[in-house]
Amino acid sequence: MMPNRIETKTTEAVEVTTEPVAPTDLGLWSQIAEDWIAHGRDWTLPGFRAVAVQRFGVWRMGIRPKLWRAPVSLLYRMLYRKVRNGYGIELPYTVNLGRRVVIEHQGAIVVHGYCTIGDDCILRQGVTLGNRHLARPLDAPVLGDRVNVGAGAKLFGAIQVGDDVQVGANAVVLHDVPAGATVAGVPAKIVKLR
Ligand SMILES: CC(C)(COP(=O)(O)OP(=O)(O)OC[C@H]1O[C@@H](n2cnc3c(N)ncnc32)[C@H](O)[C@@H]1OP(=O)(O)O)[C@@H](O)C(=O)NCCC(=O)NCCS
Repeated sequence: MMPNRIETKTTEAVEVTTEPVAPTDLGLWSQIAEDWIAHGRDWTLPGFRAVAVQRFGVWRMGIRPKLWRAPVSLLYRMLYRKVRNGYGIELPYTVNLGRRVVIEHQGAIVVHGYCTIGDDCILRQGVTLGNRHLARPLDAPVLGDRVNVGAGAKLFGAIQVGDDVQVGANAVVLHDVPAGATVAGVPAKIVKLR
């Protein structure tokens, strides 16, 4: 499931060949309904709104012909900018976003357009999932399922983070992390392995 376009601070809308794919066969409203439940049934939460706009952005890519998609894309881009500028959450539609991903709190959350985030992951305020070197702008982390990312953590480069990993607050993760591990520190090291 590879995206067709990325929108990040460092790489403005880089075109590639394939299209984003919804992580599930669920329809748009079913996905948003389970996201709403995952966010404590509070539609006012910025995290829920950011995820809902991302789902909408993916869904709209399925509208054919392209001409009919254009006004919907315009709406999506307005909503994307509102979430980014108002809540400080950059979550482009090209992110391969799993089901029931929770964004707890808001502010300084940056997700590279090429990231994969598995089901039931949690991201918190100040988290960056991004590329490590400007010379390799398409590198982005891949998170397994149920990855719990602490406040302020930074994950850089084309790294693989296994299922059930805990990333400590303010950790800087530069290497792959095995499933079940807890990592913390700068640079992040394994402090526990289940
Ligand atoms: C990483 C985390 C999940 C580990 O929790 P835990 O499984 O209970 O592990 P422990 O507290 O026993 O810590 C294990 C070791 O890692 C260290 N450690 C834990 N979190 C750390 C962090 N964020 N940075 C650096 N070291 C950390 C502990 O000091 C301990 O080291 P020690 O064995 O030398 O004493 C937790 O500390 C954490 O950072 N959670 C994020 C919470 C968060 O972001 N909250 C925001 C709410 S808005």
